[in-house]
Amino acid sequence: MNKPHVAVIVGSNRRESINRQLAEALVGLIGDRAETSFVRIDDLPMYNPDLEPERPEAVTRFTREVKAADAVLIVMPEHNRSLPAVLKNAIDWGSKPANDNVWSGKLAAITGTSPGAIGTAVGQQHLRQILGILGALVMGGEAYLTYKPDLIEDGRITNEGTRMFLQAYIDKFMGLVAKLSGATQT
Ligand SMILES: Cc1cc2nc3c(=O)[nH]c(=O)nc-3n(C[C@H](O)[C@H](O)[C@H](O)COP(=O)(O)O)c2cc1C
Repeated sequence: MNKPHVAVIVGSNRRESINRQLAEALVGLIGDRAETSFVRIDDLPMYNPDLEPERPEAVTRFTREVKAADAVLIVMPEHNRSLPAVLKNAIDWGSKPANDNVWSGKLAAITGTSPGAIGTAVGQQHLRQILGILGALVMGGEAYLTYKPDLIEDGRITNEGTRMFLQAYIDKFMGLVAKLSGATQT
């Protein structure tokens, strides 16, 4: 049986994004249980209904890639206690037209990191609410991390306790991915 496909969305357009680093480490924790691919959102134009009659290529690529995935893993910063505009913009593009909403029925897991004490917790709650309204199946539980410069080294989570916590979160996600995609987990 084919492996399930997990699309990874980094909610940041920053070149040195700490959330991209975290996402890359999480892909390592998924291992060979799924095909993974990063879905770009930084090249999407600002949502504008005027563009709908002829959607820009970046938008059709984005929706095609999300649709093709069995599940999405969203790794996000928090901006002003909410989700970054670049991520909300991607969510908006995917939500339209309403009869072709890419989030509907899509399994999703959310995590993220920031240097703040509550490491993206509030932003994640906002995203969870939005995705719920759009009909996504957002995995329960929470995983937010306070970023420290030594959190990730050579693509790996350095602290054993943090790594085990994230591994458990990813394992739970992969269990749901396998169940909902009908694939056998290896
Ligand atoms: C506009 C803006 C708002 C921010 N608001 C928050 C916030 O509410 N909470 C927080 O923990 N960090 C906040 N930060 C700091 C980010 O967590 C930090 O820039 C982090 O590196 C962003 O993640 P990234 O490197 O993946 O883009 C904010 C940063 C920016 C630019």
